[in-house]
Amino acid sequence: MWKISEDGRIDRLVVYVTVDGQPVPVGAITVEGKGAVRQSRFAYARSWLDGGFPISPILPLRAKATVSAPYELPLPFYDAAPDGWGRSILTAAFARQVFGMAEFLAAAGDDRTGDLRFGPAPESGPMQWVPHDDPLFALPDASESLQELVEAAEAVDAGEATVTHLRKLFRSSADTGGARPKARLRIDGEEWIAKFRTWGDAFDDPKIETVCLDLADKCGIDVPPHRLVDVAGRSVLLVQRFDREGDSRLGYMSAGTLVQASPSTYQTNVTYADVAAKARRSGIEPCEESIFRRMLFNAFIHNTDDHLRNHGFRRIDGKWTLSPAFDLVPCNRPSHALAPARGVAAIPDPVAMLDTSGAFGLDRGKAVEIYSDLVEGLASLPELLDRHEVSAKDRGTVAGLMPLAFNPPGIKTPAP
Ligand SMILES: Nc1ncnc2c1ncn2[C@@H]1O[C@H](COP(=O)(O)OP(=O)(O)OP(=O)(O)O)[C@@H](O)[C@H]1O
Ligand SMILES: [Mg+2]
Repeated sequence: MWKISEDGRIDRLVVYVTVDGQPVPVGAITVEGKGAVRQSRFAYARSWLDGGFPISPILPLRAKATVSAPYELPLPFYDAAPDGWGRSILTAAFARQVFGMAEFLAAAGDDRTGDLRFGPAPESGPMQWVPHDDPLFALPDASESLQELVEAAEAVDAGEATVTHLRKLFRSSADTGGARPKARLRIDGEEWIAKFRTWGDAFDDPKIETVCLDLADKCGIDVPPHRLVDVAGRSVLLVQRFDREGDSRLGYMSAGTLVQASPSTYQTNVTYADVAAKARRSGIEPCEESIFRRMLFNAFIHNTDDHLRNHGFRRIDGKWTLSPAFDLVPCNRPSHALAPARGVAAIPDPVAMLDTSGAFGLDRGKAVEIYSDLVEGLASLPELLDRHEVSAKDRGTVAGLMPLAFNPPGIKTPAP
């Protein structure tokens, strides 16, 4: 049923969103050209133009098609596609298939991030494409236990995955974003993401990310419900999905898509202040203060891996807002991926960042208030390390990586 070219590539994806519990086709992506990297165009369906809504702030409702060039897909679809980890599952599972973004999008599952869904035709409904109709992968899987998923992910990480491992991950993991091994699972009727340890981690990453999420919460940052679990001796971080509310799917857009940066951008000229300003101009609920607070927090915990896909927005009841924070972990890169504001160095220095408050429309007094609030929250760090039983070795590593979180520098408060 999928429209496949002679060389086995996906030529068309129908895009759906859910309206009143039913998937409704909103338009289609048409892929053109030969070679591994192809380009595409997206056009809204005529039926959707009359009375529908734009599926992204950067895809206005209009009859004219949006071309993807110079990228493979129009940017909003990258936020619905698998990233490093999901793509590695798909390429390992279907070694004969040539994958471009269209194939990744079609072969990822229907539990993907955000509210966009994909299928072969307007009347088919959303479906997961199984390359070559491989019968081993076409079978529905029974739901997997967390331990089975951890073991399957470890096997992939070690380059020892069997078809059984890949089948489990094809069903529960191929549509996830980010590079770290992870899987989706349903617990008591709610959707969660499980983040696992991986080869080369400098410390027990799921445990330290849990500490950082707790710390962010103490610092007044909105974080999703989360918890740390032990699965046969390995730490696993469970984070509740913020792009689901019960059975409804919420729209999701990364900051990278909002500012229309290349999907492969890492270190960039785009700044935190630019993201906040672009959000305001795009009709997203103003979020300068929250972004400023998150930026300071990232500097305190030395989360320099704060790239444009580690910030996002979600659409609830038709209104786009800043999403809860995620992926908060200290990192040994010396510079942030995003500088605070134009002309300012991207160094993790929360005191220097105070001088950029004007670029966020905040006066010095407000900036100092946010700083002081963070300092108060950071005081709970030792207690959180104890609560999560972080090892002495990891405490040492973390203390070396984020000294400012343990000893926040004092600042002068402006005269009243
Ligand atoms: N709680 C959540 N609810 C919904 N989507 C989420 C949630 N947390 C993360 N995501 C989405 O999943 C993607 C990957 O998550 P995350 O950034 O935590 O993973 P990662 O593998 O550590 O990332 P990176 O590649 O940046 O190291 C995010 O970019 C975001 O789109
Ligand atoms: Mg990430």
